[in-house]
Amino acid sequence: MDEYYSTELGTAYRGTIEAFLKSSHTDRIRGKFDLIFTSPPFPLVLKKKYGNQTGEEYLKWLVAVISQLSKLLQKDGSLVIEIGNAWLKGSPVMSTLSLETLLAISKETNLHLCQQFICHNPARLPGPAQWVTIERIRVKDSFTHVWWFSPSKRPKACNRKVLQPYGKSMQRLMAAKRYNAGPRPSGHNISEESFFVDNGGAIPPNVLQFSNTSSKAAYTKWCKKHDVSPHPARMAQGLVEFFTSFLTDEGDLVLDPFAGSNTTGATAEKMQRRWIAIESNEPYLLGSMGQFDDPECLLSNCAHAQSHAAE
Ligand SMILES: C[S@@+](CC[C@H](N)C(=O)[O-])C[C@H]1O[C@@H](n2cnc3c(N)ncnc32)[C@H](O)[C@@H]1O
Repeated sequence: MDEYYSTELGTAYRGTIEAFLKSSHTDRIRGKFDLIFTSPPFPLVLKKKYGNQTGEEYLKWLVAVISQLSKLLQKDGSLVIEIGNAWLKGSPVMSTLSLETLLAISKETNLHLCQQFICHNPARLPGPAQWVTIERIRVKDSFTHVWWFSPSKRPKACNRKVLQPYGKSMQRLMAAKRYNAGPRPSGHNISEESFFVDNGGAIPPNVLQFSNTSSKAAYTKWCKKHDVSPHPARMAQGLVEFFTSFLTDEGDLVLDPFAGSNTTGATAEKMQRRWIAIESNEPYLLGSMGQFDDPECLLSNCAHAQSHAAE
């Protein structure tokens, strides 16, 4: 495994996660991670540039990797996986592979499924194009699955760290101090005071919404300058921020085994968490420097990147 670049708080390695797990690094970091946050390669209808596997073979491979990754977690650590939907080739039918993968992880590893989330991206372009924009027989596919696992049933987590601003109606309710208290058909019994306490914000739902259009100008400019393509499947930074706040504290250690443009590492650095990132594709790693405040400094300390950039 090659150390590709290092910052004050983290290191990005060039190589596969399989090689990393076999290397001597693993002994030093077993049981040390507070959070593993990743979006693994996914078998798609059209193969992406990073060469995804397909079907059964993919499922077996991913479950085996996740089983090994779980050993790197602290006892109360968390593993969060973001995974998109896939469609059968040439057909307006969805693949169930992501759901099968979820079931296989739950059955075949020591991980508990703490909670499922949906991440809605309202800015997602309409797709799959053939069924959505050409034949108009499906609506646009605009969410990803986010699965939160842990070896513990009660991993470290605090929803007070991810409160959302109260909506207008809640603000009005708190100001009016009048509420239609009493039992509800759902079985809830709402007390006179329930909604009048200002807890500093609303508890977020497990349906999250992040557009992947936040300012990426510096990253794109850096990629252009070094003649590398921007990563085609970057995560929304807001999603990484949400789980980093929810599940970790400053100084904690975060891993992304399929780092791509290293959104996870760059977010961890910004939020004062230590991090390790693994990525097998060198141009993506070179591009990922552009996610940090001082990419020139990272480049000047990286012999591999300089030789790649000079080619
Ligand atoms: C969905 S992308 C991750 C994107 C990333 N979350 C981001 O925000 O840019 C998956 C990445 O895994 C990398 N990859 C595929 N197989 C790998 C392996 N065996 N070990 C390490 N990285 C791998 C691919 O090159 C790709 O960049």
